[in-house]
Order: sequence, then structure tokens, then C-alpha cells
Amino acid sequence: MSEGYRIANPNLAKDGWVQIEWAEHHMPVLISIREEFSRSKPLEGLRVSAVLHVTKETAALVRTLKAGGAEVWLAGSNPLSTQDDVAAALAEDGIHVYAWRGQKPEEYYWCIKQVASVGPHIIMDDGADLHAYLHSEGAEIGRNVWGGTEETTTGVIRLRALEREGKLQYPVIAVNDSLTKYLFDNRYGTGQSTIDGILRATNILIAGKVFVVAGYGWVGRGIALRARGMGARVIVTEVDPIRALEAVMDGFEVMPMSKAAELGDIFVTATGDKDVIVKEHMLKMKDGAILANAGHFNVEVSVKDLEDIAVRKRIIRKYITEYTLKDGRRLYLLAEGRLVNLVAAEGHPSEVMDMSFSNQAYAVKYIAENKDSLQRRVYTLPRRIDEDIARLKLKSMGIEIDVLTEEQKRYLSSWNLGT
Ligand code: ADE
Repeated sequence: MSEGYRIANPNLAKDGWVQIEWAEHHMPVLISIREEFSRSKPLEGLRVSAVLHVTKETAALVRTLKAGGAEVWLAGSNPLSTQDDVAAALAEDGIHVYAWRGQKPEEYYWCIKQVASVGPHIIMDDGADLHAYLHSEGAEIGRNVWGGTEETTTGVIRLRALEREGKLQYPVIAVNDSLTKYLFDNRYGTGQSTIDGILRATNILIAGKVFVVAGYGWVGRGIALRARGMGARVIVTEVDPIRALEAVMDGFEVMPMSKAAELGDIFVTATGDKDVIVKEHMLKMKDGAILANAGHFNVEVSVKDLEDIAVRKRIIRKYITEYTLKDGRRLYLLAEGRLVNLVAAEGHPSEVMDMSFSNQAYAVKYIAENKDSLQRRVYTLPRRIDEDIARLKLKSMGIEIDVLTEEQKRYLSSWNLGT
């Protein structure tokens, strides 16, 4: 059983504490849940293992679970996204952190194994790599898990596939599917942090650029909205006719990637699927085109194809790799094709993670309280909890809303009252 921690540098803890303080200052809903957890200790004596991006916001979450009585193990959910100073502060705080920035794939999976090996009661995941481990090599451990949560669209897709095949070992709360998660985190969180990542990596001017967004789910919408807000001419590519139609009526140009490839200055993938930008597209791109990914895994831009068609490769800034093609054209890949917002920037702002991670905290509590009645299925948190989080968030922003009168409630629940 793994009890300790493995991080880059314990001496960074002092810097990490300041970052955590900054995040917590901007996460009032989660902090109010922490106060409630400190009093009621809903997780007393529980082992919680998490695979989440190790950021200052995740620190606020795991410290909340600890305040609720849990012992927490934490591994990163991407080899390049860990904030090493935050990891050091968490280790100092008694969280068993297994994460450092710049992991090799085998180190990344080793860390996941460490947090699984403690035999957790409840697990939290972002992308479902821990869930996948507990359903394959680690199935023996998975059989004793009470339940788990999943943070992101990609992870929920993997878990629903397990559920469909009748192989899900324990109940899962799809935190991603709470309204107070995807409507805000996926749209405004990724919308802003993806642009932030591109800007920190490149310092280019967005205004006037042709900005191609692949995928018009909540993430793609957020990115398209923010890119337009900064003066880009935005093209959307889609495979779903309804989403494509929405993009058209939201005022974006819509076309296949094979056409957009010739026009774009900046490309961002946000589909959750593989091979969205491949060789045939790359060969049509303009000299200087920038390629970035906002989807969970590094499969959307085919890095292998880039490597195949390039005659020269060099790192020109921290998160920019230049690939020169045979005819001299240069393509620039950001963050090695991994989540540009978490690699080149700091992920979503704390204010939006406040809601996502309040859902995570309540989901863990929900599993602890309902473990005997939950089935091996993928659940969404009850609407009541979603609304509570929205109310708390509004309150923290000093915003009041109207309340229905009894008469109005009656009207809404009747069928016989017309004009
Ligand atoms: N996913 C996206 N942004 C994040 C953040 N700031 N912390 C943890 N996970 C994230």
C-alpha cells in the first residue's frame, strides 16, 4: 500500500501555498462547502483516490475533502499539467500526491497505480484513466470501490461505454453532466483558458486572424465565442448536422476541415475524437499555421502525421514546436498537441472551477451517503444539488433573483388556465 508522496520538489511548497490561497479566495462556494464538511465530517475515515489535474483549484477541492474527514491520494490527469509548487504544498498538507510536470507515459501510469493501490472507498477522475485501470489491470481493487466521479465529457463517454457493455463495477456520478458544470466550465472555462494558453504560448494577435474551431459542443462554443470576441474571423467544423446548424445560426462560417485547412491561421480541436487534423489537412495549411488542442487527450491533432511529413523539427518557444515541411512551409504545434489550456496556461479560472469542484465535493458526499442504494450505473447529481450550487454562486456574486408567487406556481402546474 502506498502511503507517501512523489513530487518534483518539496522546496516549492511556499510558492504553492500562495497559489492555493489565491484560488480559494475565488472559490467561495467550495469554501462554504468546506465549512459545512468541517462541521459534519461526512467523509470521516474514508480513503479517496483522485486523478485530477494538480492545480491550485484541485488543491482547494482535495483540502475540502480532507476537511470532511477523508484521507486523500492524488495523481495528475495529464503528464504536462501538474503545477509543481501546488503539489509540494499539498504534500506538506498531508495529501498523498503522486504528480510532477513533464512525466513520461510510464511515470504517469505508475502514479495512477499508486493512488489506486490504497484500496479507495471513493475515487474521482478526470478523463477516466483511473476508472479504466480499475476495470482492467486493477479490477481486483475496483470490485471494492463504493463509487466514483467523472469530471469531463471524454471520461463520461468512456464510462457510458462500460455501462452499455454491462461491465461497470461501481456507480459513477457524471459530474460533467451537472448544469452548473458543463454550461460554465466547458463553455466559459475552456473558452477563456484555451485562448489564454494560445496567447501565453505565442503572444500572437487574435484580431483579424482566421480561427478554426473543430467541434461545436460546449467547449467548441466557448472557444468560438471568445475568439470572435477578440476580433477573429471564426470558422467552425462539425460532423453533427444539428450542431453545425446552430453554429451557422450563431453567425459562424461552417465548412469541412478539408476546406478550412486552407484558410485557417489558428486551429483548435475540441471534439473528443481522434484524427481531426491529419496529414491531408496539414498538407493544405498556410505557412505559419498554429495548431492547438483543447480536447482531453492528445489524439485530435495527429502528431504522428506531423512528424511524418516534416523534414525539420525544433522547439522555438517553451510550448511551440515548429515543423518544417518539404516545400519550406512551417506549422506550429502548441503544447505537443495536449490540452493547451492546462499545459501552456493554468487551466480554467478558479471562479468557474468553484462550481465544477463543488459538484465534485457533493458527488463524493452523495456516494458516501447513498452507496447502499446506488446501482452500477452512470448517474447525474440530483437537480436540487445543481440548483443549490447555482444559488450559492449567485449569492457569492451579490446577485438576487425573483421568486415565484404561490399564484404563479399554481399557474405553471395547471392545464386549464389559459388567457
Ligand atoms: N480542468 C480545467 N481547468 C482546470 C483547473 N484549473 N484545475 C483542475 N482541472 C481543470
